[in-house]
Amino acid sequence: MHGNRLMTFLEKEISRRKTFGIISHPDAGKTTLTEKLLLFGGAIQEAGAVKSNKIKKAATSDFMEIERQRGISVATSVLAFEYKNYKINILDTPGHKDFAEDTYRTLTAVDSVIVVIDVAKGVEEQTEKLVEVCRMRQIPMIVFINKLDREGKDAFDLLDEVEQKLGLRVTPLSIPIGMGADFQGIYNMYENNIQLFLEEKKQKIGERVLIDNVNDPKVAQIVGEKPAERLQEEVELIQSVYPTFDRDQYLNGELQPVFFGSALNNFGVQELLDAFITIAPEPQPKMAEERMVSPDEDIFSGFVFKIHANMDPKHRNRLAFIKIVSGIFKRNENYLHVREGKKMKFASPNTFFADKKEIVEESFPGDIVGLHDTGNFRIGDTLTGGIPLHFKGIPNFSPEHFRYINNEDPLKAKQLAKGIDQLMDEGVAQLFIMEMNGRKLIGTVGALQYEVIQYRLEHEYGAKCTYEPVSIHKACWVEADEKSDEFLEFKRLKQRFLAKDKYGQLVFLADSSFTISMTQEKFPTIKLHFISEWAHAK
Ligand code: G4P
Repeated sequence: MHGNRLMTFLEKEISRRKTFGIISHPDAGKTTLTEKLLLFGGAIQEAGAVKSNKIKKAATSDFMEIERQRGISVATSVLAFEYKNYKINILDTPGHKDFAEDTYRTLTAVDSVIVVIDVAKGVEEQTEKLVEVCRMRQIPMIVFINKLDREGKDAFDLLDEVEQKLGLRVTPLSIPIGMGADFQGIYNMYENNIQLFLEEKKQKIGERVLIDNVNDPKVAQIVGEKPAERLQEEVELIQSVYPTFDRDQYLNGELQPVFFGSALNNFGVQELLDAFITIAPEPQPKMAEERMVSPDEDIFSGFVFKIHANMDPKHRNRLAFIKIVSGIFKRNENYLHVREGKKMKFASPNTFFADKKEIVEESFPGDIVGLHDTGNFRIGDTLTGGIPLHFKGIPNFSPEHFRYINNEDPLKAKQLAKGIDQLMDEGVAQLFIMEMNGRKLIGTVGALQYEVIQYRLEHEYGAKCTYEPVSIHKACWVEADEKSDEFLEFKRLKQRFLAKDKYGQLVFLADSSFTISMTQEKFPTIKLHFISEWAHAK
């Protein structure tokens, strides 16, 4: 009986959870929107409480700035709040392109995303990259077109742009009334209401007025004859051109609803949130190498998607962020660290509420717990209530930059090795060890990471390093029949360009895209992958 009661309780907790990420190009309004969502949940009392964890372009060589940002990003890694009896977990995704890898990893822990787009700038580069990752993983997406209080692109042009550049199939659930200087407010088709800006400057918003449908005579009274006619035409157009909203298609990543609004003015944000809690998925099952794991399973399981170094450089204490996949996580319970094969228990697991951390007794699927770690965890590790599971799907993308790392102080070789090892576990960068001579090569997504690594090695591990440039275009993970003649020939010819990654996987470091295509032509049975996810799964 006890088992049954527990399941019901667990299922209830699962069904009221929504774990998602907000993705955008920097400056589109992610921080502002996050803050407004927290305000609705009553988790914060005033605007300005959530610090932006943007790393401003000008700060690339300012270490204090990097340190300050690290502090902020611990606080804003997970922002949880309650709204209408839902427990909502927002996972922060850095917008800065040098930290794109962090964002990709965080996306393995979300059940859905909201994509924020600036109405004037339209689809920007980072949005394209991040949406592509979500599309590949069939993550349900809602699009929020922001900054409607400003002059921007025509709504229909923007919808076209979103479809074409992002490869999405959209359906607007709200639509602006009038554009540019004539912009008056928003018609929310999902809830059938109209909300207007009240003043010339569009800084105030009016009450929401419920209408029967867009042909309701009330519409003309509210917005005027002409704009009402235009709105009716546009809604007709939408109904004939765009697919009708279908929740299953949205959940399968086949259809993306679009909302318009202004985060800064809190316009259209509550509509977005109300629609979100109604349609967004609850915590989803996750694939492990062994089998699919369902959230309502009795036994606890979760995986590490992020590791954050402690702010105090004297203690190498880190916080490993675990997304709970199934069962109930309990404080002081013995859990199995599957890769290490050892039992561990956690006396002070952290949970996150708004921008505060607290010790938690129990957490449920969809939640994130922060575990204090002295170097046991690696990104992608699985923790369970005893069963040997290995969750899949934390990808490593080919780095964009490569440099040899050299030890500057022979007496500190050990510290350097340990520092590199731990920073790589955190996922700051990727390490490759050359097959020929054992030299260490650091690959990163952005140039900023080299400064972070050098600084942290010195301040946290007392080790000094220098870098040496090397001309590499991409890291390609090699999949081949290792006994074949073709593979032996490949190894002989490419010896100088072969390395092992941290997991011992063979990597071909190609110096140009031309080399890659030539190699593929010459060795047709050897597969070159630019993502190492397949490799971990083995
Ligand atoms: P991000 O996290 O996506 O990088 O963007 P963030 O929310 O920090 O917003 C970037 C800028 O855009 C901020 O202005 C913010 O106030 C503004 N913004 C956000 N939403 C809206 C909106 O709906 N309308 C208008 N007009 N502006 C909006 P900033 O001047 O760069 O920063 P701040 O000094 O205001 O913080």
